[in-house]
Amino acid sequence: YFLGIDLGTSSLKTVLYNEEFKTVVSISKDYEMLQPYNGWAEQNPQDWIDAMDLTFEELKKSYGKELKSLMGIGLTGQMHGLVMLDEQNRVLRYPILWCDQRTEEEIKDINDILGEEELIRITANPALTGFTLSKILWVKKHEPEIFKNCKHILLPKDYLRFYLSGDYATDLSDASGMQLLDVPNRKWSEEICKTFKIDIEMLPKLYESVECTGYLKSELKEKLGITHNVAIAAGAGDNAAAAIGCGVVNDGETFATIGTSGVVFTQSDIIRTDEKGRIHTFCSAVPNTWHVMGVTQAAGFSVEWFKENFYKDVDKGKIFSKIEEDINKSTIGSNKLIYLPYLMGERTPHLDPNARGAFIGLSGMHKREDLMRAVIEGVTFSLRDCLEIIRSIGLEVENIYLTGGGANNDSWIKILADNFKTSIEKIKGDGGTNLGAAILASIASGKYSDLKTVCEKYVDYGEKFDYNEENLKIYESYYKLYGESYLDLKNLY
Ligand code: XUL
Repeated sequence: YFLGIDLGTSSLKTVLYNEEFKTVVSISKDYEMLQPYNGWAEQNPQDWIDAMDLTFEELKKSYGKELKSLMGIGLTGQMHGLVMLDEQNRVLRYPILWCDQRTEEEIKDINDILGEEELIRITANPALTGFTLSKILWVKKHEPEIFKNCKHILLPKDYLRFYLSGDYATDLSDASGMQLLDVPNRKWSEEICKTFKIDIEMLPKLYESVECTGYLKSELKEKLGITHNVAIAAGAGDNAAAAIGCGVVNDGETFATIGTSGVVFTQSDIIRTDEKGRIHTFCSAVPNTWHVMGVTQAAGFSVEWFKENFYKDVDKGKIFSKIEEDINKSTIGSNKLIYLPYLMGERTPHLDPNARGAFIGLSGMHKREDLMRAVIEGVTFSLRDCLEIIRSIGLEVENIYLTGGGANNDSWIKILADNFKTSIEKIKGDGGTNLGAAILASIASGKYSDLKTVCEKYVDYGEKFDYNEENLKIYESYYKLYGESYLDLKNLY
């Protein structure tokens, strides 16, 4: 058996798989994202640990027998977040998350000090508020005492690893999002660390995703009622793990995911970049390969926000079917209503931390269903922006695997296909991120030896949706309006 643990932005999900990667049980626990100021986002890391412990308790209660043959644990989760520990391994402040936008000034500093070209040469990406380097520099400037006491810098999932095995380690895909990694050469950049006076010793040890970084501590083994060794895989950032769980392991293969953020991700055997830096170039979980990905900040988050505020009257258990019913009551173009999904600034394509959301064209005739559909269409257009940039650098995409929460809504999948001009294929069962992490654990534990063969054999695809030419034509004009709306509003934010 293998465990895949995904430390998401809204919840932690632990899935137990058998050796053929069929789900035995999936347990998830929610926690809060704190937004103390407009554009800030933090979390209490004790909530992550408590959530993981709760999933372990439930496992122990009902799956004690299976745990006796647990071979490995794979970790994945939200990328870029900054966890700082002192000498006694105490957390120094709440981690600043991937979607936090407070570091605009630090971005200017990074570009002034190192120069944009040099930064892209080393890290393969431009300076972005989402990435960890700017968050470290923010703490250094605004909370110098905390920075002085910092002895270890970890990414969110690697803080779980530290709790599980006591190791300070990370994998190359997640490390790519720190802007401290020499992405072409797959090692920490001494030059970046030296330039920004960050002690390289603070950074965790680097591994390829399939490698074993250590073994489960004895206290935790006791908690789970086991005595044998359990390997912990280096694992991967949530998107690189999802790629494995979607079987996206060969050059040019593509998946999209709708979690809190939305991503379109294309696997690549070589380093590819967008000249304007609008999509990221990171290491993949397949050893010695890379990927490009476009990221829209508030995909599932837009739907969550709308649901929280405008579906209070609907029974919790019926919300998802109600949303689907609502979007079908409205029409393509949401009765001429456009939504910009920039609740937390935007990365692809605008790289604008100050962008904010908007409904454009609101009239007295619009109902909740039109607003809901506009939200879904706005997020779709934003994902389409990601895909168009991936196409513009010469990658041909004709089929996209889909994972994440959005994959549960067939009406939304049709909207995605009509806009992407691709077929869309679902992943069966608990595919995606958790599965990817568990597959990595199966290699790290020595159960299997070849990553691509495991993916080919065990990733199970579900229903396939085709796009509709007629719909695509109608969407075209709304997509154009959507793009123009941001340009017109840009200076007002
Ligand atoms: C990727 C990114 C998000 C987070 C949250 O660059 O910031 O996808 O990993 O899921």
